[in-house]
This record gives sequence, C-alpha cells and structure tokens, in this order.
Amino acid sequence: MAKSRSGVFEKEASGLLNCFNASLLFDKKLYFQDIQGSIAHAKMLGNQGILSEKEAKAIVNGLEKILSEIENGEFKFDIEDEDIHMAIEKRLSQIAGEDISGRLHTARSRNDQVAVDFKLYVQNSSLLLINLIKEFIKTLLDIAKNHTQTLLPGMTHLQHAQPVNFAFHLIAYMCMFRRDAERFESSYKRNNFSPLGSAALAGTPYPINRVQTAKELGFDAPMSNAMDGVSDRDFALEILFNISVFMMHISRLAEELILWSSAEFRFIALSDEYSTGSSIMPQKKNPDVPELLRGKTGRVYGNLMGLLTVLKGLPLAYNKDMQEDKEGVFDSVETAVICLKTVNETVKTMSINKENMSKACQKGHLSATDLADYLVTHKNIPFREAHFITGKAVAKAEELGVDISQMSYLELQKIDGRIDKEVEKYLSLEASMNARASKGGTSTNTTKEQLVEMENWLKKFCS
Ligand code: ARG
Repeated sequence: MAKSRSGVFEKEASGLLNCFNASLLFDKKLYFQDIQGSIAHAKMLGNQGILSEKEAKAIVNGLEKILSEIENGEFKFDIEDEDIHMAIEKRLSQIAGEDISGRLHTARSRNDQVAVDFKLYVQNSSLLLINLIKEFIKTLLDIAKNHTQTLLPGMTHLQHAQPVNFAFHLIAYMCMFRRDAERFESSYKRNNFSPLGSAALAGTPYPINRVQTAKELGFDAPMSNAMDGVSDRDFALEILFNISVFMMHISRLAEELILWSSAEFRFIALSDEYSTGSSIMPQKKNPDVPELLRGKTGRVYGNLMGLLTVLKGLPLAYNKDMQEDKEGVFDSVETAVICLKTVNETVKTMSINKENMSKACQKGHLSATDLADYLVTHKNIPFREAHFITGKAVAKAEELGVDISQMSYLELQKIDGRIDKEVEKYLSLEASMNARASKGGTSTNTTKEQLVEMENWLKKFCS
C-alpha cells in the first residue's frame, strides 16, 4: 500500500486533514506527466543497475496499464490517496505487487516528482498555445489581405485621428500576438531543464543518470542545482504572465469588436453562431463572446497575482504552500485555450462592413494633418504655423457643416491666401492614408509589406 505516512506515526490522519491536505481532486490532471516521469525514472534505475532490468520492466508495464485504465475511465480516484503521485503508486502496488512498486520511489521524492510533472504540463501547454496563436494570426492575415484599401478611422483617445486601412489595424494585433507567441517560446527554452533527480532537495546517494531522464522527457539537460530543482516555480509564473499579457491583447481586440458591432459603428457584424440573444428584448443580438473574452482576462491576472503571492518569501526548498501552484495555472491555460479557439471562430465568421467604415471616415476631419503637411511641404510654412492655419480651416469646415476632406480650395484660400487648387488632392481620405508610406506606415503599399513580413514570420516560426 503506497502511503506517505511512515512507521513514525502512531495514529491515523484525521479525515479533516485528509480533505485539507489532498490535491488529488485537481492534480489528477497531471496523470499523464506523472506516468511519463515515472517511466523515465524506472527505465533509468534499470539502466543504472539500481533496479534489476526485470523490476524496471515490471514497473513500466504496470504504469502503462495504469495509463490506459485512467484514459478508459476505469481508474478509481480516492481522495485518501492524497495526490496523483500516491494514487498511481498505490495502483501500481496492486498490479505489480508491493515488492516491485515499492522500488519505484528509490532515488526520488515527491518534491522532484511534482516539479517534473508540473513542468512537463507547462511546457506542453506553451507549445499548444503557440500553435493556437499561430492559427489565429493566420486567420487575421487571411482577412487583412482583402482589406489593404478599406478605409476606417484611426483613433487616438477614441476620437477620429487619421484614416488607416483595416488590414493595417489588424496587423497591429498580429504584431501583439506574434510577440505573445515569441514570449511563450522564450519561456519554453529558458525553462526546458529537468528537475527530476533533485530528490527531496539535496540530490541522492544512488548513481542516477539525470541526463538520461532529462533527454527521455524532452528536456535539454538536468537543472544545475537540486535545491533550485525542487524550489523553482518560475516556469509556472512565466506561463501565467505570458497568458496575462496575451489575454490583455485579446481584451483590447474584444473591446474593439464590441464597439465595432454596436449601432454607433456597425463596422462589423458578429455571425449568428457567435452572437447571443436577450431573454427579454427580441431584437437583440449581443456580443457575449467578446465580452467574455474581455472579462476572462480578470481571472487570468488573478491567477498570476495568486502564485506570485504564494511564492513570496518562501524559504528553500519545498514547502507545502507550493501545492497551491497548480489550480491557477490549469485555469489560465484552459481559459487561454478556449478563448483562442473561440476568438478565432468569431473573427473568422464575422462580416465586415466596408461601407460603414468608409462612411465613418467622412466625419472628424481625418485629413486635417494632411492640410498642415501640405502647407509645410509645398508652401514652406513652419509646422507650428501650418498647424494653426489648419485649426482655423477645421473650424470653418465645422461652420459649413462639411468634412475637411470635402472642402473646396476656394474656401481654404479665404483662410490663407497661399493655399491653391493642388491642395484638394492631398485632402482626400485615400490620399491621406497612402501618404503615410514611411516604414510601418498605413499606406496600402507599406501595409502590403507588413503582410509579407508577417507571412514570412508565420512560415519560419516554429516550423
Ligand atoms: N501534492 C504535492 C504538491 O502538489 C506533492 C508534493 C508533496 N511533497 C511533500 N513533501 N509533501 O506539491
């Protein structure tokens, strides 16, 4: 019978302690990684002659049987087993006999066992998230390709600022998500070292081979220091931070989807499959999906703050506080996965209303800066003065009830006699957008360059 209580105890643990202490209800999610880690450990013990090859083989066979039992739903989880490690070891004792199962824990502690399980989970999750982010960038890219000339108002302070094209606006998001993918990747690389073999905290007297277990589990090498091996949870903090930043980006996109689908904008319409109804107002189609994307960002931030706080001031090495590391990470990973899948489909199926985007550009004097730029470039007027003259022109346009992009040069000439007919070609919204052809700018050409750059990154990254 696998038990963490040794002969030193005279009394049984209280039922209340068992409930309070147990992590099985949530750490059973780590069953796969636990079995993977134990198989690597048993094989290594066999190779090193610490166990006989026969014993190691019997352990590996037993663990493989347990894996299929869990995956087929035949495994009985019992909270009295405390955690996934003890639950699996107990079942192994029933399958292989206590004399065999009792040898698996040689040269190992639950401290390095849980660290390796959890790290494997985090590493796999990073790879999964990178792939989902790449898919989402691909979706945005496919949409953007058709919109390098679709004008919409670029905003600052949520006020009309300058005309941009829709592809350019989407590329801004792609750049954020590209950084997110790279952040997950860099955390993956930095943390790809195995804690297994650290044992309780100080290493072990057995002649183990940590390089073998590290390689077998897909790590680059063993961690350098056993005490750090069992105390480190930076990898968990990093994924929580990476997910937090990613979700912050998602929440900004979600906010724009909500605004854009409102009656005031009508730039997009969410598909029926990804819109919800109101229980009282029959006319309504609500953007619950982006609202939830925005809202779920809160719990993800909470998970990061929670673990940072758990770890603050913890003395080395393992402390049971660290058992509190898992639920937040599971929750953040699962939240990010469902958000990515949902946002991808929502964006893929939404319709884009070019006409309304372009109509919105007729308001707010988006090409006012172009009048100032014209005065600087063609009339050699200092920018500050040009800025002032343009302000007057905007005031005039307001008085006439027109947008500056539609003002005749004759009206403008009344404000400053140096203005001539040529000005009109600089004030159209399209000209304004295409004038911004500096690298990274919104002109159709420079937008197309950015799309090519993004496509090349997608092809290269993690291929
Ligand atoms: N359930 C524990 C955790 O999640 C496993 C490690 C227990 N180690 C110990 N020394 N009590 O952290």
